[in-house]
Amino acid sequence: MQIALFGATGGTGRQVLDQSLASGHTVTALVRDPAKIEARSGVTLIPGDVLDQEATSRCVQGADAVICVLGSGVGAEPVEARGTQRILEAMQTHGVLRLIAVTSLGVGDSRAQVGADFQRAMDTVLQPIIAAKTEQERLIRASGLDWTIVRPGGLGDGPRTGDYRSGTDPTLMAGLVSRADVAEFVLRQLSDASYLHQCPAVT
Ligand SMILES: NC(=O)c1ccc[n+]([C@@H]2O[C@H](COP(=O)([O-])OP(=O)(O)OC[C@H]3O[C@@H](n4cnc5c(N)ncnc54)[C@H](OP(=O)(O)O)[C@@H]3O)[C@@H](O)[C@H]2O)c1
Repeated sequence: MQIALFGATGGTGRQVLDQSLASGHTVTALVRDPAKIEARSGVTLIPGDVLDQEATSRCVQGADAVICVLGSGVGAEPVEARGTQRILEAMQTHGVLRLIAVTSLGVGDSRAQVGADFQRAMDTVLQPIIAAKTEQERLIRASGLDWTIVRPGGLGDGPRTGDYRSGTDPTLMAGLVSRADVAEFVLRQLSDASYLHQCPAVT
């Protein structure tokens, strides 16, 4: 498959990129700093910012599916909603239907799936990011595309284990999960429509 990837230089994005290539997919990645990604067969880099509609459009053109693992650091202007708006516009323009986007457990109707401490953080220090992710999910749900929103628990940099829980059971509580395992779950969605128009947790 030809995958358009947003967030390839991030922790989860690097895992998505590596695992995509290992599975035989080709990837076109929009990156703000191409020097962060080692040149490899199967990867095409589009230098640019997701807020640049022209660059985002070039990344999406010709893709079979789009994977979005954009994120914002605390204190930065959150990019999730505005970036996703550009991605959705590009997908509509080029007739690309399949979107898998990573947000977070705690967002939207999953608030009760995170602990009290994280809920307090969501209401204070993380409020701008959670608001951006909430709007991001709203935009995706309203897009009419073939979307899946993946909501991880707390991310860690451990190895890929396959030892995680996933699904839409609202009693599934957030716990740690490695970015490598999240990437594996994300890539599984490319060939599995079980979670079409759903927001599975991975934790
Ligand atoms: N940390 C956690 O425990 C946790 C828990 C649940 C969910 N999540 C969410 O899971 C997702 C993945 O997390 P992560 O830690 O792997 O992400 P990350 O390392 O913070 O990576 C974020 C990616 O977004 C890119 N990006 C940001 N703004 C951009 C822009 N304007 N244009 C283009 N690219 C831009 C970054 O590019 P640059 O390299 O150029 O900055 C980077 O590739 C995020 O949405 C995060 O909020 C995190």
